[in-house]
Amino acid sequence: MSSDQPSIILDCDPGHDDAIAIIVAARHTNVLGLTTVAGNAPLSATTRNAIIVRDLLGLDAPVHSGAERPLIREPKHADYVHGKSGMDGADLPEPSGPPASTDAVGFIIDTCRANEGAWLVPTGPMTNIGLALRAAPDLKDRIAGISLMGGGTFGNRTAAAEFNIWCDPEAADIVFSYGGPLIMSGLDLTHQFQALPPRIEMVRALPGQLAHVLAGLLDFFSHTYTSRHHGIGGAAVHDPLAVMALTHPHLFTVKNAHVEVETDGVRTLGMTIIDQRDLKEVPPGNCEWQTHVDADAAWDVVVEAIAHFSH
Ligand code: RIB
Ligand code: CA
Repeated sequence: MSSDQPSIILDCDPGHDDAIAIIVAARHTNVLGLTTVAGNAPLSATTRNAIIVRDLLGLDAPVHSGAERPLIREPKHADYVHGKSGMDGADLPEPSGPPASTDAVGFIIDTCRANEGAWLVPTGPMTNIGLALRAAPDLKDRIAGISLMGGGTFGNRTAAAEFNIWCDPEAADIVFSYGGPLIMSGLDLTHQFQALPPRIEMVRALPGQLAHVLAGLLDFFSHTYTSRHHGIGGAAVHDPLAVMALTHPHLFTVKNAHVEVETDGVRTLGMTIIDQRDLKEVPPGNCEWQTHVDADAAWDVVVEAIAHFSH
């Protein structure tokens, strides 16, 4: 860790792409901790997977589990994308042990108060983050900001809503209205960043167990994408872009925008409404909306990070 690396708490629901986000974070940030939330799979699975990835990297960071369900809605998962385990596609080692605690929210609050200037990086449903911001409003002035994967100009779980927001729109609404710095990496960005076959081969060509495991995970993840989509050549590797927004900002094009979350719609529940009107009445922007990524360069960051931990 170098002093110029951002300090972050990565709140995640591993999740194939969350695993890649953990690797990039381990390589390029000071990971204060990993917190887990139910999302791609139930909390027990996402927590197990976060510990396994942490262990594979030899990362010195605690894993704290958090919310097993959204603030008010019923829990929903995505085994149709990630498999029953949440990370199907590879022979994974057993986790080294249980999470450090089951109080992710308390960890987030205490750690942000003790480490002023940390970033919160949610890459799953934002239940833990919403609970922390509601319990400790002072976090707004203590954190450097929030860089999230979620939302965008179109949906995936519904025509309008992206999965992380759709799972817990009320928590996402707390995040988008918290009033501090906010970076959104939505589907319009992350679908530019696909695990195309040549990119997966770059991973498979690396030595060591980690690269072998990740190549298998990416094969599985990409198959679920290409089998369900018409025009996608590989899995959209969403979550590491929320980390690279902080570590490699030169790879992105960003616009300031006013974004709100739909919490009442029948067909639009969980939609991120990005106000693109050219009107003076549009409220001031509350979000840095990442609209483009240099996908080849970003994939090189992923491959280098995997190589760094492969031996
Ligand atoms: O919609 C994509 C997001 O939902 C990603 O974070 C993926 O891991 C799932 O959590
Ligand atoms: Ca995720």
